[in-house]
Amino acid sequence: MTAQLLDGKLISEEIISAVRTRVDARVADGHRAPALAVVLVGDDPASAVYVRNKKKACERAGFRSISHELPSSLTEAELLALVERLNHDPEVDGILVQLPLPKQIDQERVIEAIDPRKDVDGFHPYNFGRLALRMPLLRPCTPYGVMVMLEKTGVDLVGKDAVVIGASNIVGRPAGLELLQARSTVTICHSRTVALADKVRAADVVVAGVGIPNFVKGDWIKPGAIVIDVGINRLPDGKLCGDVEFETARQRAGWITPVPGGVGPMTIAMLMQNTFDASVNLNP
Ligand code: GUN
Repeated sequence: MTAQLLDGKLISEEIISAVRTRVDARVADGHRAPALAVVLVGDDPASAVYVRNKKKACERAGFRSISHELPSSLTEAELLALVERLNHDPEVDGILVQLPLPKQIDQERVIEAIDPRKDVDGFHPYNFGRLALRMPLLRPCTPYGVMVMLEKTGVDLVGKDAVVIGASNIVGRPAGLELLQARSTVTICHSRTVALADKVRAADVVVAGVGIPNFVKGDWIKPGAIVIDVGINRLPDGKLCGDVEFETARQRAGWITPVPGGVGPMTIAMLMQNTFDASVNLNP
């Protein structure tokens, strides 16, 4: 069997166009366009690329993007003051602070300072708690994108065995909660998990988000399984690759996401969706 590809670029374009249509309708009704404040601290090259892509997506969605690019020497107090200003700015609907932050800044403190209504990353304990309690509002973008891709397969997730590899706050944990909400049987694996290969071999759905190139071997994949690769790793030759051995996995899987062009664009599309939703909630 050769897997069907889940084209994240195509699905993300559909989502952003649908948002655009709704933005245009609201603007025609006299509302202002949604506005996303994008905060980048320091000069991490990968973060700079992500932020540039987020700003480009804002243009396609018909949003205003307000950019704050700050030096790596920024203090926590200065960043908290900016967040406070954005929280109270009636022209701002969404606040995105790109992670990671420089080491002198406590990431959790900054996330918790964001008004949950403007937390379009879905990282605030309020929004995370809402997801855990089956009352999602603003959902973390990457796992949200994973769920939209899973929906596109048409496969019923109820009762399926889902294995999530990686237990990070941004990907693994919320992906586990999303899959549980979809009524799958969820196993969240991490660096201390014993017999990982056996767990993956039993999985109908595999979500990999560990950040290690080709960590998941293709021959671990159960025939027909859905494989969602969240990893975006740069190899020494400059090429991008995921956390899953793509060529061997695609020979066994029923569905698989490519890297690049899989989950990456979906994260950005869901950020646009969240910013639109935040804007509508703040300005009904
Ligand atoms: N760094 C890596 N992924 C993300 C994300 O989804 N949002 C933010 N703000 N930072 C990130």
